[in-house]
Amino acid sequence: MKIGILTSGGDCPGLNAVIRGAVLKGVISHDTEFVGFRSGWRGVVEADIMPITRHDVRGLAKQGGTILGSSRTNPFEGEGGGPENIQRMLDENGIDAIIAIGGEGTLTAARRLHDEGGINVVGVPKTIDNDLTATDYSFGFDTAVEIATEAIDRLRTTADSHGRCMVLEVMGRHVGWIALHSGMAGGAHAILIPEQPQSIEQICEWVESVRERGRAPLVVVAEGFTLEGMTEAHSHKGLDAFNRPRLGGIAELLAPMIEERTGIESRATVLGHIQRGGAPSAYDRVLATRLGMAAVEAVYERQWGSMVSLRGTEIKTVSIAEATGGLNTVPQDRFDEARILFG
Ligand code: F6P
Repeated sequence: MKIGILTSGGDCPGLNAVIRGAVLKGVISHDTEFVGFRSGWRGVVEADIMPITRHDVRGLAKQGGTILGSSRTNPFEGEGGGPENIQRMLDENGIDAIIAIGGEGTLTAARRLHDEGGINVVGVPKTIDNDLTATDYSFGFDTAVEIATEAIDRLRTTADSHGRCMVLEVMGRHVGWIALHSGMAGGAHAILIPEQPQSIEQICEWVESVRERGRAPLVVVAEGFTLEGMTEAHSHKGLDAFNRPRLGGIAELLAPMIEERTGIESRATVLGHIQRGGAPSAYDRVLATRLGMAAVEAVYERQWGSMVSLRGTEIKTVSIAEATGGLNTVPQDRFDEARILFG
């Protein structure tokens, strides 16, 4: 059996640990041969293939990024794209199956390739945002929360020294899991997430109540948060230099608004891609390794169109369709729970 692995979409700490887990499991248990597709689906469409041996994955669990590279290429586009061309490329290279490691976009493409073209594919969920359904957590999330929590701890001491309000922006385009968990862990005084739009008046009320108790307010905001009643045209989501919708920047919008309304000097920090770089946490290394190993088993069980997933403490397989059917949003009760700690 020869398996091709790809990592696609935004990178994430733990991608290399998945590759290592898969290769070690395959080589040791089944004598599998592995290749990697360079830069996600681009490597599939362009047949850009590299061998991966047991030797290549030595010491890889702790290494951030991905040795295969990543891209946001759509496998249905371009000269070598589409199920027929891809199947031909797999046949020409003697590749029996693909393990696709990625988020929503990658998994949707994998599902379509399987459903529409019968491609033998197994998915592995990847998202630092924790926005995929059908898996309790994905690797990368724990690492991102750890980094954001450290940032909160560091901002707190400088906030206290100057009596300032600090607004920290973390990742989370559509869901607020990183903000919720890091905010709870770091003791934030307000956690602002896309699922719970708030008015500027409410935010300032939270900030002022903290100051009244003699503390320096700390606000954590997910990049996808929008102020209640604010239209997109007037929000932080303008266009960037390439005419793409600009994500991020909500902290820079909020900090001056808070300062103006409360009179408390305020500063914004945008954490950005620091949350995605560097070594994965021990938890993420273990989860990623287990997912990689399980993906190989799913290949040998011919569970095409399935995705490996964390359910409780166990790794199960679910259909990719289940995993791409919606977003894993922060439920109301989890927000209410955190809300109690704001004051
Ligand atoms: O989906 C993960 C994510 O990190 C989002 O939180 C963020 O908005 C986006 O990727 C950033 O993407 P890029 O690396 O393409 O700028």
